Amino acid sequence: MAVPNIVLCLIPAILALIGIRKLRERTWGYCKNNVKLSNKVAIVTGANSGIGYEIVKELAARDAQVVLACRNLKSAKAAITEIEKQLNRTVKLIAMELDLASLKSIEQFAINVQKICPEINLLINNAGVAYPKNQMHKTQDGIEMHFGVNHLGHFYLTNLLLETLKKSRPSRVVIVSSFLHEKGKIDLENLEGNIQGVNLYANSKLANVYFCRELSKRVENNGLNVYAVCPGWVYTSLFRHSVRWYHYILVAPIAFFFMRSPKQGAQTPIYCATDPSLTNESGLLYRNCSPYVSKIKFDDDIALKLWNESERLVSEKTK
Ligand SMILES: NC(=O)c1ccc[n+]([C@@H]2O[C@H](COP(=O)([O-])OP(=O)(O)OC[C@H]3O[C@@H](n4cnc5c(N)ncnc54)[C@H](OP(=O)(O)O)[C@@H]3O)[C@@H](O)[C@H]2O)c1
Ligand SMILES: *[C@@H]1O[C@H](CO)[C@@H](O)[C@H](O)[C@H]1NC(C)=O
Ligand SMILES: *[C@@H]1O[C@H](CO)[C@@H](O)[C@H](O)[C@H]1NC(C)=O
Ligand SMILES: *[C@@H]1O[C@H](CO)[C@@H](O)[C@H](O)[C@H]1NC(C)=O
Repeated sequence: MAVPNIVLCLIPAILALIGIRKLRERTWGYCKNNVKLSNKVAIVTGANSGIGYEIVKELAARDAQVVLACRNLKSAKAAITEIEKQLNRTVKLIAMELDLASLKSIEQFAINVQKICPEINLLINNAGVAYPKNQMHKTQDGIEMHFGVNHLGHFYLTNLLLETLKKSRPSRVVIVSSFLHEKGKIDLENLEGNIQGVNLYANSKLANVYFCRELSKRVENNGLNVYAVCPGWVYTSLFRHSVRWYHYILVAPIAFFFMRSPKQGAQTPIYCATDPSLTNESGLLYRNCSPYVSKIKFDDDIALKLWNESERLVSEKTK
C-alpha cells in the first residue's frame, strides 16, 4: 500500500519545525553548575506553580532547605508532595503562608519564617500577578494590585528579612522581573498608575529592576548580592485572567517557537541563585543565563525616589 504523499511531506516538515525549536532552546541558557546547597536556606515566593515550583524543585534537588511562601497553604503542600514524589527522596521543604497582597500577612510571615530559620541565604522574589489592562484590582491595603504584589509586597518582605540575609552571608536576593519591564514607566507622581489602559504589569516589572539596583547599592559589601531576571516567555498560568480559549489557537504557532517550559523559565533564576561566577556581581539584570542590557536607560534618581516612596507607602499603610 502506498503512503499518501501528504504524509511523506509532513514528516520532514514536522522534523524541521522540531529542529528549529531545539535550536531556539539552545539560545535560552541552561544553569550548568552543580553547586550543592546543603546547609543553605532559601525562600521562594509564589512557589506552588509555574517558574517558582521549578525553582524549588531544583533547589531541593541541590539539598537546600526551602520555604515555599504561598498565599494558599494547600497548594504549597500539594507542590511539596509532588516534588517529593518526583525527586524520590527526603527533601527539606516547608510550606508557609504569605499573601503579598496584604502588608499584615507579610509581617506575620517575616516573623514566622525567622523563628524557624535563623539564617536565610536565598530569597527568590518570584510571585507575580497579571490582569487585563482594563481591570483594576486592589490589595487588602488598597494599593493597585500589580504594584502592590509584584513590587511593594516584595519590597516590604525583603526589607523585613534584610538583617537576617546580611548576617547569613554569602546570601543572594533574586528578583524575577520580565522583559516587559522595557514597556514600563515609573511615574513618581502616580506610582500605582491608577489609570485604565496603562500597562500596570510592565510598570511593576520595571519597579522590580529599579528595586534590584537600589537594593544592591544599599547592601554593598555586606556579602549580599542582588540580581534581577527576565525568565523569558514561559508557559504558566500567569496570564490566566487574560487568556480566552481562542488565544491558545492563535498563539500556538508562535508559542511553539518562543515559549519556554516552566523548567526552562526557571534556569536564569537558578543560575543567579547559585552560579559561582556571579559572586562579585550585584544589581544587574540577567536573561538566558547571561547579563542582559535593557533598552531602558536606568536613572539612579528614579531608583532612589521609588525606594523612598515605597518606604513611605508601607509606613503609611502599616501605621
Ligand atoms: N510566564 C511568563 O511568561 C513570565 C514572563 C516574564 C516574567 N514572569 C514572572 O515570573 C514570575 C512567576 O510567574 P509564573 O509565570 O510562574 O506564573 P504563575 O504560575 O501564575 O505563578 C505566580 C505565582 O505567584 C503567586 N501569587 C500571586 N499573587 C500572590 C499573592 N498575593 N501572594 C502570594 N503569592 C501570590 C501565585 O499563587 P497562586 O497560585 O495562589 O495564584 C503563583 O504561585 C512572576 O513574577 C512573573 O511576573 C513570567
Ligand atoms: C525511590 O527510591 C527508593 C529508595 O532509594 C528505591 O528503592 C525506589 O526504586 C525508587 N523509586 C523510583 C520510582 O525511582
Ligand atoms: C571575586 O573577587 C575576589 C576578590 O577580589 C577574587 O579573589 C575572586 O576570584 C572573584 N571571584 C570571581 C568569580 O570573579
Ligand atoms: C530619600 O529619603 C532619604 C532619607 O529619608 C532623604 O535623605 C532623601 O533626601 C530622599 N531622597 C529623595 C530623592 O527623595
